[in-house]
Amino acid sequence: MNITLFSSKSYDKEFFDKVNVESNFNYNISYVEQRLDLSTVDLLEAGQDVVCIFVNDDASRPVLEALKAKGVKIVALRCAGFNNVDLEAAKELGFQVVRVPAYSPESVAEHAAALLFTLNRNTHKAYNRTKDANFNLENLTGICLYGKTAGVIGTGKIGLAMIRILRGLGMRVVCVDPYQNQAAIDAGAEYVDFDELYKVSDVISVHCPLFKENTHFLNKEAFAKMKDGVILINSSRGGLLNTEDALEALASGKLRGLGLDVYEYESALFFKDLSNEVLKDDLYTRLIMNPRVLLTGHQAFLTEEALTSISNTTLSNIKEVVETGKATNTVLN
Ligand code: NAI
Repeated sequence: MNITLFSSKSYDKEFFDKVNVESNFNYNISYVEQRLDLSTVDLLEAGQDVVCIFVNDDASRPVLEALKAKGVKIVALRCAGFNNVDLEAAKELGFQVVRVPAYSPESVAEHAAALLFTLNRNTHKAYNRTKDANFNLENLTGICLYGKTAGVIGTGKIGLAMIRILRGLGMRVVCVDPYQNQAAIDAGAEYVDFDELYKVSDVISVHCPLFKENTHFLNKEAFAKMKDGVILINSSRGGLLNTEDALEALASGKLRGLGLDVYEYESALFFKDLSNEVLKDDLYTRLIMNPRVLLTGHQAFLTEEALTSISNTTLSNIKEVVETGKATNTVLN
């Protein structure tokens, strides 16, 4: 089995190589640093059976056609979301497409909570100030989260982990999901509709997948229904939020703070060191220049536990497809 990872970083290599040997998969794994798209498909060496991709790799129809022509049979996503794969094309072209549906959901929720804590209490600003011996406390005031209401959108694995954290802080938690999760109710969350969630929440955290239908559902209409001064956290997918509308909501005071681990145009930016370049994305520049925005570069998954689990599940998915022709973690119906 020859496997090539696109968008690979040192931590991918470290954990995939370790799990490959320790769990006796013993596959031939190659690593390509570049993101997969039509211009990088040719970096794939001959004889590769599996292409393993991450959140910002492009698995659109033309890319899948090029992969097929090179003899690739399996597209193994090493992430949960699969909005970057043209599933119709993948099916037509006869690919098996597998993903990692869960890998330490607590890791992602803990990062969302870190964004909330940092943004609320301005510890990122305080860190810079105290390094400069500036002990002025002006503009560092936060709110006490205890007794406030948090709205959680999406109560699957990560949403549930977030509910448990928020309940642990002594917050009331209301939530929205087309499917009720009994564990969320048992953890003390109350299901409401979107209008009610927007009306009562002091903090809103988003934990649902991105589909065509919910693209930009967090837009000016949604902000209009929210309380003034809400803190919004998005660690799910950038496309869920209309960034332009969010900047307006920050300017008007509707949003007190915006904590993001994802950005709708992140595929051109994230996972690379662009610190020496002049960025051409004005929307991004306006976002990071805003003092009420805290942004991390899609790192909510980045814990040792999650990386071990991602490597294990990805290689097990491939093994299952090779041995049985089917995959429990398929994304194709
Ligand atoms: P999950 O599949 O366990 O839960 C998602 C939940 O969202 C489901 O209960 C589903 O019914 C609900 N949902 C679907 N559409 C909805 C809508 N329009 N409104 C409200 N709820 C809706 O997925 P999991 O593992 O909790 O992951 C959630 C999302 O987090 C992923 O889809 C992915 O986009 C993102 N993610 C981000 C990571 C990061 O590093 N920033 C890492 C892993 C996941």
